[in-house]
This record gives sequence, structure tokens and C-alpha cells, in this order.
Amino acid sequence: AIPLKELFKDYFPIGAAITPQHADLATIHGEALVKHFNSVTAENVMKPESLQRNKGVYTWEGADRIVQFAKNNNLQVRGHTLTWHSQSPDWMFYDENGELLSREVASAQLEEHITTVMSRYKGDVYAWDVVNEAMSDWDPNGEIIYREDSPWYKIFGPSYIDSAFVFAHRADPEAKLFYNDYNSIFSWKRNKIYDLVKRLKDNNIPIDGVGLQGHWMIETSEQDIRTTLDLFRGLGVEIQITELDLPVYLSSNEEGSMVYTETFSQRQKQTYSMIFQVLLDYKDVITGVTFWGIGDDASWLDQPGRKAFPFLLDENLQPKPAYFEVQKLLN
Ligand code: G3I
Repeated sequence: AIPLKELFKDYFPIGAAITPQHADLATIHGEALVKHFNSVTAENVMKPESLQRNKGVYTWEGADRIVQFAKNNNLQVRGHTLTWHSQSPDWMFYDENGELLSREVASAQLEEHITTVMSRYKGDVYAWDVVNEAMSDWDPNGEIIYREDSPWYKIFGPSYIDSAFVFAHRADPEAKLFYNDYNSIFSWKRNKIYDLVKRLKDNNIPIDGVGLQGHWMIETSEQDIRTTLDLFRGLGVEIQITELDLPVYLSSNEEGSMVYTETFSQRQKQTYSMIFQVLLDYKDVITGVTFWGIGDDASWLDQPGRKAFPFLLDENLQPKPAYFEVQKLLN
């Protein structure tokens, strides 16, 4: 097999989400990272609750380890994430009585967090998901635009999004700044994201791109992806696929062992091939593609009794049928 990063070298960097334990050449994960990828994202350890669980006390160890590994091995780092309703410590939103903070206090704390984190990794983390998952998943008619149950929204309304981008640009003017979300290829959600990004650009808020997470499925429609890419290309922003995976959801058989049947393998192969053909077609606007993991040994989608097998590398981090199908597109 040709390493993934060689396959895509004329197109886009290809990345994986990793844990600090993977950032070690002595592991099969570290080996696969260096062989196949030229970009990494921390799956969890750069999130607010990991970096600043207690106010003013930063924990850099895991994130530093990933950044150092990336520097040593010529991998780019995408930062994930600065402003999110989830995996963020309560003190960012609530006082000791459980009341929502004032805008002034919450805004100052957000700015402090963004500035501290981005300053530490200036020059090492080339792009950041500045705001993650701020749009509502509800209401296909588009009347509920923002995720209103987010404590950020409760404190600020939508303006926290603008502020986060301004703070981020101030902290590291060279970093690429992204808005990142899921379900972003479905019309009812992508239109909300489109309106948001357009509003930010119209107001001269510094935003460079949109991250389409890419938690897709073997049934995902080619047209949905193409329409979405066309739409954001029209806004003149970069597009990155930030969290790609394609689960096949096999449950245990009666013996309790996992099976990866030929049928699932075929369908996943076809969908991965379709997806990468589309991404290659849009190489003018796609500036990165990242898988939300490395290989089928571990994925956030795995549950007891249900394994997802969502990647191009198998449980031993070796290329699987879907990999060879994608490779065919470039030969
Ligand atoms: O680290 C603790 C461990 O100390 C504890 O014993 C254990 C018990 O539950 O939990 C561990 O934390 C888990 C953490 O992953 C690290 O493994 C959390 O429970 C678990 O909720 C967390 O899940 C992460 C999830 O975000 C949280 O929302 C996934 O790993 C991570 O892949 C996932 O990533 C998100 C992106 O950030 C945003 N887009 C969607 C994507 C998938 O949900």
C-alpha cells in the first residue's frame, strides 16, 4: 500500500485524531501516524475541561506531548477546540451558587482561556476549531437557529461566537480559524451554518474556514456532500473535513465475537471511494481531511457489543479493502 500522505500529497494534508498515548514511536499507533499521516488533532486533551479543569490551573501534559511528537515527526497540528458547550468546566459558565455568570465575567474568562492556550501553541498549532457545534440540530424549518441550551448561548446569545473569533485572531494572527459542526451536509443544518459564516464575514469577523465533521454513514449521499461543498466554496472560505468516520455497526454474533462481513466491507469500500473522489474534485477549497481516530481498534463509536470499524486502517492499523479502493482513485 502507498502511505495515505503520499496518496494525497498533491491534494490536502491527511490527519488523525489521537490521544497522548498514541504520540509514541514505540507503539503501533505512533508508527502508523508517522507512516500515513501529516496532521494530527487531539481527540480530547485540548478541550477546555482537559486544559483548564480548575480556573487558572492549566494542565498541559497531554497536549504538549502531542505537539512535541508532531514537531519531531513533521506532522501539522489542528487544535480542537476552544469554545464548546460540552467538555467545558462549569466555572466557565456558573458562579458558586450555580447562577449563570454575567457577560463581562464569562467573556473575560473566555478571552483568557483562548489567549493562554493559543499563545502556548503559537507556531505549532496551525489551525483551531474556535467554536464547535453552536448551531441547533432541531427544527428543520430553521426557526431555531442556535443551540439555545448551550450555556454560552444563555449568557451571550449568538455574540459569543463573534467574540471567540476576535479573541482567537488577537491571540495568534497567523492561525487559521475554523467554525466546526456535525450534520453539516444536511440542508436544514448547513443553511444555518452558511448564514452564520456569511454574517461573520460580512461583519469582518476573522474566520478562515468551516470544518465539516464528517461523521458520515455508508448511506451518505454524494449529492449532499457536493451541494455542501459548493455552498461553502461560494462563501470564499476554506473547507476541512475534520472528524471523518464511516461506521458499519456490527454487533456481536452468537459466539460473542465481532464479525466484519463481506457485505459491510463492500459497502464501506464504495462509500469511502465516493467520498474521496468528491474530496479530490474539490481540492481547490479543501485544505485538510482528518479521520476521527487512526484505525479500527478504537473509535468513539465503539460500545460494548457494538463495534464500528469506521476507518481505512484495520484493528492492527494495516490497510483494509476500503483503503485499497481509495488508493485506486489516485493510480
Ligand atoms: O478520561 C475519562 C476517564 O478518566 C473516565 O474514567 C472515563 C469514564 O467515563 O471517562 C473518560 O472521559 C471520556 C473521554 O471521552 C476520554 O475517553 C468521556 O467520558 C467521554 O465522554 C469522552 O468522549 C469524547 C466525546 O467527544 C465527548 O463529547 C470522545 O472521546 C471524543 O471522540 C468526542 O469527540 C467529539 C468531538 O470533540 C466533537 N465532535 C463530535 C465528536 C464525537 O462525539
